[in-house]
Amino acid sequence: MYIPKQSISYWKDHEAPRSFAPLQANLTSEVVIVGGGITGILTAWKLAKEGKQVVLIEAGKLTDGTTGFTTAKISAQHGLIYDHLIRTLGKEKARLYYEANQEAAAFLNRTVDGLEIDCDFTLQDAYVYITTNEMRPMLEKELKAYKQLGIDGGLDQASAQMNLPFHVEEALVMRGQAQFHPVKFLEALVQDMAEQVHIFEHTRAESVEGKTVRTSDGFTITGEHLVVASHFPFNDFDGGYFAKLHPERSYAIGVKGTNTFKSGMYISEDQPSRSVRAASLENGEQLLIIGGENHPVGNSKQKTMEHYEKLAEFAKEHFGAQDVLYRWSAQDLITLDQVPYIGHSHDNIYVATGYAKWGMTSGTVAAGLITDLIVKGNSRYAELYDPKRKKLKPTDIKTFVGQNTKVAKDLISGKLKTAEKTVDSLQPGEGAVVIVDGEKTGAYRDEQGQCHFVDITCTHMGCETKWNDAERSWDCPCHGSRFSYEGEVLEGPAVQPLKKK
Ligand SMILES: Cc1cc2nc3c(=O)[nH]c(=O)nc-3n(C[C@H](O)[C@H](O)[C@H](O)COP(=O)(O)OP(=O)(O)OC[C@H]3O[C@@H](n4cnc5c(N)ncnc54)[C@H](O)[C@@H]3O)c2cc1C
Ligand code: FES
Repeated sequence: MYIPKQSISYWKDHEAPRSFAPLQANLTSEVVIVGGGITGILTAWKLAKEGKQVVLIEAGKLTDGTTGFTTAKISAQHGLIYDHLIRTLGKEKARLYYEANQEAAAFLNRTVDGLEIDCDFTLQDAYVYITTNEMRPMLEKELKAYKQLGIDGGLDQASAQMNLPFHVEEALVMRGQAQFHPVKFLEALVQDMAEQVHIFEHTRAESVEGKTVRTSDGFTITGEHLVVASHFPFNDFDGGYFAKLHPERSYAIGVKGTNTFKSGMYISEDQPSRSVRAASLENGEQLLIIGGENHPVGNSKQKTMEHYEKLAEFAKEHFGAQDVLYRWSAQDLITLDQVPYIGHSHDNIYVATGYAKWGMTSGTVAAGLITDLIVKGNSRYAELYDPKRKKLKPTDIKTFVGQNTKVAKDLISGKLKTAEKTVDSLQPGEGAVVIVDGEKTGAYRDEQGQCHFVDITCTHMGCETKWNDAERSWDCPCHGSRFSYEGEVLEGPAVQPLKKK
């Protein structure tokens, strides 16, 4: 089965209608937003509508982060979260979480209608399904939570089975959710706000001092409020985010199936995890988007390309897919208690992160919550999402210790490992750790045969990066920074490139 050599996201497969020059002067503004994904763009748009003066800076191009590499289901059904939330935070906060996400979905729907945005927005039911009985008790507990919270949904094996071409043992539906094309949606918002908001692409925030952000080109932006929408906060801001977030990568492919898929958005609770939804190609044909294969960043047990191969096999076996038209992967951040960190972090600084792969609604919640904090000084969701919340449950502490032990191990064990290959044995398109002048070095041989050498020590906090063969990048297992084979930062929290060797 053909799989493209390079990663290409279906959402990014068109020319962006607008591009923006990098920042070339010092500026002041009421609000400075760092990061041009769904969080940053929506927050900028909302604040501009409130009459605020806003500067938005993006390290690469707008939507180049996780937002351009998502599967874009708009849903308050975040896996099986409500039973967990009732047990850990109580019924009231679990209900508030549901309301925040439903409100976010309704806002997206209204905005698409209000601005007449052509972004394939359609209402869909969302399902969590199982294929064996092992996870049935989990589904039943979640069903109980739905009933307690008055969520519109329930068990509906028959509908899921009607739409999915493989055995479905049981399915839990949440009705009236949605899907869209997130990049087309955000491009329309950018178009709508471009005269009000100062937008700069290829402008990386490197540090913050007081109310001033310094970019990697040496320019400054001083603002009353700073919104950190950089996915992993690019600076810790006393939030301890390096100890409270862990990054997970997952994969998606776009295929044409021979069995037409009718409707709905699906995610499996049993392993290996699989996600299914449909989108449309330019010519109106159906594109199936199949996702799954999660693993901690920089820590895959197999070659990363094999994750795509497994999704392709699944698509062929069940949907009769022949070729993979698109393939992409990305990462998202998970918090200790599974609730994102959104809100006031420090002095004039707001953060929004930790969406656990549900950022279409969580990013929208963040935009509303932060706008309310800046404009009105409060939000009904502030306490639930408070990034400074302290009350950790014993299970959270276990995760916290486990994650930090793993990070510490990555810091040390990486350094002890020996070379994986010799420079001479590297094939075009291959990367590995080699020994150069007696030192461990990252090497990648490009298609023309030229080798690119980097110091694989992550410039964030010194962990050793690992080669990701599918994306041709050096990925850090500690907090998820990623670097190109030439060492440029692809994803933070690192802001400095890997040293060239
Ligand atoms: C494979 C996959 C599938 C997913 N599917 C779904 C789904 O179906 N539904 C759903 O709700 N969610 C889903 N998610 C999650 C969702 O896509 C993310 O939570 C969301 O896109 C995160 O948006 P963001 O704006 O916070 O971050 P990003 O989109 O990553 O934006 C952050 C931006 O900040 C920029 N940046 C970083 N550092 C700096 C700096 N120092 N200076 C300037 N700019 C900087 C980056 O370049 C980037 O563009 C999925 C995630 C993955 C990985
Ligand atoms: S991302 Fe923190 S050490 Fe690499």
